[in-house]
Amino acid sequence: MSFDPESVRADFPALSQLINGVPLVYFDNASTAQKPRCVIAATVAAYEGNCANIHRGVHTLSARATETFEAVRDKVLAFVNARAHSEIVFTKGTTEAINLVAQSFGRLVVGAGDEVLVSELEHHSNLVPWQLLCAEKGAVLKRVPMTPSAEIDADAFEAMLSPRVKVVALTHVSNAFGTVSPIAEMVAKAHRFGAAVLVDGAQAVCHGPVDVQAIGCDFYCFSAHKLFGPTGVGVLFGKASRLASMPPWQGGGDMITSVRFEQSEFAEPPHRFEAGTPNIAGVMGMGAAIDYVSAIGWGPFAAWERRLLVYATEELKRVDGVHIFGDTKEKAPILSFSVDGIHPHDVGTVLDSEGVAVRTGLHCAEPAMRSLGLRGTVRASLAFYNTEREVDVFVRALRSAIKMFR
Ligand code: ALA
Repeated sequence: MSFDPESVRADFPALSQLINGVPLVYFDNASTAQKPRCVIAATVAAYEGNCANIHRGVHTLSARATETFEAVRDKVLAFVNARAHSEIVFTKGTTEAINLVAQSFGRLVVGAGDEVLVSELEHHSNLVPWQLLCAEKGAVLKRVPMTPSAEIDADAFEAMLSPRVKVVALTHVSNAFGTVSPIAEMVAKAHRFGAAVLVDGAQAVCHGPVDVQAIGCDFYCFSAHKLFGPTGVGVLFGKASRLASMPPWQGGGDMITSVRFEQSEFAEPPHRFEAGTPNIAGVMGMGAAIDYVSAIGWGPFAAWERRLLVYATEELKRVDGVHIFGDTKEKAPILSFSVDGIHPHDVGTVLDSEGVAVRTGLHCAEPAMRSLGLRGTVRASLAFYNTEREVDVFVRALRSAIKMFR
């Protein structure tokens, strides 16, 4: 094993703190990941040394800020293997990216009686925008079922495809269970019927390489903050031909080429979709996060996460009364489980008292939870800086919780 998590932990100041008097074990990475010093430094530098608005000023500081900002677009392009600068739109995050597509592209292509397919596994942010669109347009929102192992039912999906389907919205990796969708195959199948496909990549970009050309999707969305970058910034990748056909979503400065009182002409993508002053410092922080993970490299990073997941799964299975959901062969390092007779919030509260941070509840995926007959789970989501020692602390704390409540 060439990757040693101890070698990177010092890069993350938040990891070395005490919580409730004991060292923090941060297992809530699927909610938001911790930030390395280089990301924090890049956002501070954006305010200290490069603070000016972009695309607007003739002065040197503005030119410098613009150059640094646009350089991040190139980094993102390479990071997801897009073809062109124009395919990378900066957003507030995954949620805004999906809403942008639903409200611009969706309104353009979805009409009364058309169908939008959304899987039951989705985070609410990849369901509610489509509910709103379908209600507005009189279109039919169809549920692609999930299997008992918390994967999208690929056979059912295939059977639901037809020329009536205009948009398909699917998660790449489930936020609630960590299960991975066979996304490239599903995209290819949807394309055979002429449907456009949006992929929610929020939980995928932080665990392995994403190649939007290999996936073949029309849209791919992710947030910086799960990728060790700042909150409030994310990316919409859209195929150039799709984005070029789409009307603006929000109006304002920087998305126009000329404005008369009666009407305006709009900029080409990506700027057409970036009205107003963006999160400039956030974009610069996201650039630093991409540099950081790229420097480590996906190989060592993913191999360590895999080893940690296997270890944590084995240790968790040894605890009486624990049931893991989505325990599939290929998955992200997310362990979603219940404990017989103990409410997930109670488990989470005891874990917190022992310094272990996990998420509990529905994980913004209520239909998925209902489908498995669950009212919530405890979710331990790991990152490459987590260690086997931390897994041991977590399992010990879990055993204490069980003793306390039985
Ligand atoms: N989407 C985030 C999660 O799954 C907030 O926890």
